[in-house]
Amino acid sequence: MNERSVTVLGVGAAVPDRVVTNDDLAAFLDTSDDWIARRTGIRQRRVAGLEMATSDLAVRAAWEALQGAGAGAGNLDLILVATSTPDHWMPSTAALVQHALGATRAGALDVNAACAGFTYAVATGAQFVLAGTYRSVLVIGADLMSRVVDWSDRSTAVLFGDGAGAVLLGASRRPALFHSILGADGSGAHLLEIPAGGSRLPPSSETVRDRLHSIRMQGREVFQFGVNILVRSLRQATEEAGLQIEDLALIIPHQANIRIIQSAAERLGVPLDRFWANLDRFGNTSAASIPLALAEAVSSGRVHQGDVLAFVGFGAGLTWGVNLVTWGGE
Ligand code: UT7
Repeated sequence: MNERSVTVLGVGAAVPDRVVTNDDLAAFLDTSDDWIARRTGIRQRRVAGLEMATSDLAVRAAWEALQGAGAGAGNLDLILVATSTPDHWMPSTAALVQHALGATRAGALDVNAACAGFTYAVATGAQFVLAGTYRSVLVIGADLMSRVVDWSDRSTAVLFGDGAGAVLLGASRRPALFHSILGADGSGAHLLEIPAGGSRLPPSSETVRDRLHSIRMQGREVFQFGVNILVRSLRQATEEAGLQIEDLALIIPHQANIRIIQSAAERLGVPLDRFWANLDRFGNTSAASIPLALAEAVSSGRVHQGDVLAFVGFGAGLTWGVNLVTWGGE
């Protein structure tokens, strides 16, 4: 246990209203509800209209987290937004969120670790609280994956959705465990990428023509990575924290594919009901998926004071991260 402790004081989530079902996708893609549900567990996802950008959803989730904690935006010290679908290349989405919230005292920074982004941002934000530098850090995971999906590619279009989730981190009044591990293996960068639009391949009429501004993924390799890293990183994090896997009251994994979660649960010898899954309704919302699932688990009464929770994310990079957190807030 650290001398100074950090905990989640409030949690919030936001998704667009528009529901897109598997049947909706099957109307223009060579796929079916049966294939998508069986191979991924996804039944529907939310898709934002063009009037909405990532920061808009992020702000909605942030207000809910602040409200849950009974906190005002004026006291925030730092805002971290984990996203790989920012409103713009610059300024950061976090700066837009800072302004929309009226968080006049806060610094603001985007974190890009793709689907592992939320775990990276929680690990980063928590350090400021543990060090005693800051008292109030807002961590948001927000992505509009619908904007970067190739809607003509059935192998990726069926997987993703839009959403945002947020947590307010602050000092814990009670002793609380906090432990994170972060990892990266850039040799797998090509397995999941948006090839164009950056400095390697700037936008041109050719990159647009060739659909190089949308996600390319080697699904089977990423699937294997997902299962292996869930198992390995949860074992490593619990071991380092002096815990057994059984000590985790609830594991909130990145919501990529229910078969990834099932395989990891089986290999870890953990019952599936110890993992929270909501990808059937939201698909893979990238950096938003863990806080979105956390918000749902909390509001449904599944999380209790003193529970040790594990957030575990993985994705493009390749990157991964685990946060072990004692639930003390709300
Ligand atoms: O956030 C982290 C990133 N994402 C992930 O973690 C995703 C990881 N990968 C996966 O979830 C899975 O690999 C997929 C769901 C993407 C694909 O499932 P799979 O069981 O690995 O299928 P596959 O890629 O091996 O393809 C099997 C067949 C292929 O047809 P053939 O070549 O056997 O004739 C595909 O063309 O399924 C076909 N297929 C589809 N069929 C109907 C691929 N996508 C679809 C589709 N509908 N949407």
